[in-house]
Amino acid sequence: MSTKPSSLIYVTLIWAYNLLQCLLDELLSPTPPSPNTKLRNPRIAVIGAGLTGVSSAAHVVGHGFDVTLFESGSRDQLGGIWSVAREHDLGASINSFMYRFHPHVRWESGYPKQRIIVDQITAIWEDYNLEGKTRFNTSVTSVTPVKSKTQPRPMWLINNEKSFGEFDGIIAAVGACGDVKKPHLDDEEKFKGEIVHSTELGEVDGKGKRIIIIGGEASAVEALEFTSKAKAKETIILARSERGLSLAAL
Ligand SMILES: *[C@@H]1O[C@H](CO)[C@@H](O)[C@H](O)[C@H]1NC(C)=O
Repeated sequence: MSTKPSSLIYVTLIWAYNLLQCLLDELLSPTPPSPNTKLRNPRIAVIGAGLTGVSSAAHVVGHGFDVTLFESGSRDQLGGIWSVAREHDLGASINSFMYRFHPHVRWESGYPKQRIIVDQITAIWEDYNLEGKTRFNTSVTSVTPVKSKTQPRPMWLINNEKSFGEFDGIIAAVGACGDVKKPHLDDEEKFKGEIVHSTELGEVDGKGKRIIIIGGEASAVEALEFTSKAKAKETIILARSERGLSLAAL
């Protein structure tokens, strides 16, 4: 019996990658507090239960401090932008080796897909017992400094709501990719074709069409991949600069 050298190298690399991930986790992940550990001050509010919010909250409790995680969406939105169901096969566009938002993540592939990313975020949320510390369906509309009754320094109130408690610090983890922003184009009502946002690409049929992509950053590169897969007749990109596109060419 013989094993092909290439597959042997592959298996060895995967094995080494897993070993490295275990080591990183062991060395760098703060130990999750047990459910009955009394967490101490300072108390931190984290706004947004996406990838950054969940990993920040995990670090906060891992170091023994109390946290409340505020998420405007429901439980389904744990994972933030990654939790948004999209029809096209979305995934990380950089290698998982560099996509290490918390040392506790364990990747099994080079370019993890959306579902796997949400699973990893959820695993961190569960392993650090953040469930009881997360307020879903709670949109943060104001953060106000108040004179504290218990602390000598000013504290923060969220939405002026005393029942949430006072916070020593706030971590805003709302990200740059919130609700879809689609600028209005002059006379767009008169345009006979379809106008779609890059998040809606899974819903359109591009075959044989002439398509204009507006913008030259990461989403434009994704859109270009889409038009090429969809066998569009012609694709034109209107970009202010070639920065995003030249990065994609690397
Ligand atoms: C939040 O709101 C949704 C819909 O309004 C509801 O289904 C859900 O049970 C609420 N709570 C959580 C924790 O998601």
